[in-house]
Amino acid sequence: MVENLVELLRWYSAMGVDIAVDDAPHDRLAECREARTRAAADVDVAPPPKPEAALAPRAAPREPALVLPADALEQSARDSAAGAQTLAELRERLLRFEGCGLKATATQLVFGDGDPNAEIMFVGEAPGADEDRQGLPFVGRAGQLLDKMLAAIGLERGKVYIANVVPWRPPGNRTPTPLETAVCLPFTRRQIELVHPKILVCLGAASAQTLLGAKEGIMRLRGRWFDYPLGETKIRAIAMLHPAYLLRQPAQKKLAWRDLRLLAKEIGRSSPAR
Ligand code: URA
Repeated sequence: MVENLVELLRWYSAMGVDIAVDDAPHDRLAECREARTRAAADVDVAPPPKPEAALAPRAAPREPALVLPADALEQSARDSAAGAQTLAELRERLLRFEGCGLKATATQLVFGDGDPNAEIMFVGEAPGADEDRQGLPFVGRAGQLLDKMLAAIGLERGKVYIANVVPWRPPGNRTPTPLETAVCLPFTRRQIELVHPKILVCLGAASAQTLLGAKEGIMRLRGRWFDYPLGETKIRAIAMLHPAYLLRQPAQKKLAWRDLRLLAKEIGRSSPAR
């Protein structure tokens, strides 16, 4: 009996069910289906406006239903992100945005964190289980390693800004799909614009390929400087190995130290010893 329960828990964990978010079970797929139905009903069968409504101030546009085609979702993300003048506004818009299916399975939004005036901004892939629980990026084991990497070149977490390409946890920590990434990208780009750092650090392949528009793997991208267009200007951008990868492959830390040294040199800090 106990063995069966242990087996069941193991299976849940393998399927990505690794936290209890509530006392009562949630059928997220049913919630998602209901949200789609509601949104589709709003879009398709809303009654025609009464004549006097034409004169009334127009309500804020609704966020798109998940049933919209990919290019419409991306356009709606671009429109929504472009309208945000501050990080707080961008966060509000993401909270209201219904165009990314990951929102239905994540516990909460994991928006960027740190100094909004930071000169260095780090962007990872997507929140994991700890981040999903706490609502903050890079707070789990990978985040603790990132803190150590920052400390190695005299940086404190609170003095940089940290975000992810996708702000909701993909179930079971799977890699975000190209559509999920594309739909979230306008928000990530706007977040970078609003922080306006001098240096952008892409952590891992998903971040580097998405933000730098590169096709090569992380082993070819890491340790190289790129230009990242930001408004009228360009900033320096570098790709590094993701701390989660370094936890799985500690022998590759030597490459991470090399890249950290490049970053330290760029910002005029003393380098880590090795
Ligand atoms: N990995 C990421 O890419 N981002 C996080 O926030 C945590 C782990």
